[in-house]
Amino acid sequence: MSIDRRSFLSLAAGLAATGLRPVSPVHAATVAAPLRRNIPGTTEALPVVGMGTADTFNVGTGADERKPLAEVMGLLLQTEGSVIDTAPSYGSAEAVTGDLLRAANARSRVFLATKISARSGAPAQAQWARSLADLQVDKIDLLQIHNLIDWQANLRWLRELKEQGRIRYLGITHYRDDAHEALEKIVRSERVDFVQINYSVAERNAERTLLPLCEARGVAVLVNRPFQDGRLFRVVKDRPLPPWAGDIDCGSWGQLFLKFIVSHPAVTVAIPATSKPRNMADNLGAGLGRMPDPGQRERIAALLR
Ligand SMILES: NC(=O)c1ccc[n+]([C@@H]2O[C@H](COP(=O)([O-])OP(=O)(O)OC[C@H]3O[C@@H](n4cnc5c(N)ncnc54)[C@H](OP(=O)(O)O)[C@@H]3O)[C@@H](O)[C@H]2O)c1
Repeated sequence: MSIDRRSFLSLAAGLAATGLRPVSPVHAATVAAPLRRNIPGTTEALPVVGMGTADTFNVGTGADERKPLAEVMGLLLQTEGSVIDTAPSYGSAEAVTGDLLRAANARSRVFLATKISARSGAPAQAQWARSLADLQVDKIDLLQIHNLIDWQANLRWLRELKEQGRIRYLGITHYRDDAHEALEKIVRSERVDFVQINYSVAERNAERTLLPLCEARGVAVLVNRPFQDGRLFRVVKDRPLPPWAGDIDCGSWGQLFLKFIVSHPAVTVAIPATSKPRNMADNLGAGLGRMPDPGQRERIAALLR
């Protein structure tokens, strides 16, 4: 349930270097461990803030493009077992992730998730082979069916991969509210380890059925689009943080948005994407300190109405 002292101090130093307000020193003494959540039915606990790679990791090979991403990765790696979510459809993101992990010799320190977005059979198998090559690994922690594509046949194949030990967990993803009903049917009728969905302070549809259902069925939940692809920051632009943000150890809007998500008991991990070390440090700060209670969660949501 904790990171070691060295990792915490290093993260605090990272925060200081980016100019972000760290957790208060008084409180830090008691909250030095990023919150983790167990994958249901297991003793494996994941840090509640991980990282997505869509767009942000789709860069070329130039040092100027890669350097900030290496720093972003370095910050994430300070917490053992953090989730990295990528996909073969994210341009060069898998290859960039693979290069950065290899450079840091850090494959074993992360929980690596990617996706299948090809039709089942030969196309899906070819895509999987490319993902392994680009990520420079022979095993994936979580393989997800992207946006429900050919999900019945792909799910059968993912089960085979899991039986063969090529993947540890299998899952299914979508990013829109109008897919939640289809996901609910799958969660009720099939055995999946993870569901990845959109959920944020401004998109709360998942709270109605899907999140409680996943909790009841013991399905882990990854949350994508936690900032609605950055839109939430434009909504609150130039607005000061509410004075009570400090009561839940939030020093930024990003931390308020993320703490709203990860304080939902059914959520396992939120996967914000960023290309900037400063924002990565900010996002990781949302795993630290006090979390909002149900009343405080509603206060956060009310700020966006
Ligand atoms: N169907 C699917 O399976 C699916 C669909 C959508 C997304 N996803 C996954 O979910 C991940 C996250 O979703 P997303 O990429 O759509 O968007 P997001 O995480 O909601 O938002 C990313 C945007 O927020 C900005 N940002 C991040 N942290 C910030 C901070 N602390 N302060 C200010 N700005 C910040 C980033 O800009 P900077 O780069 O400037 O920081 C970027 O523009 C994806 O990367 C992907 O892995 C999966």
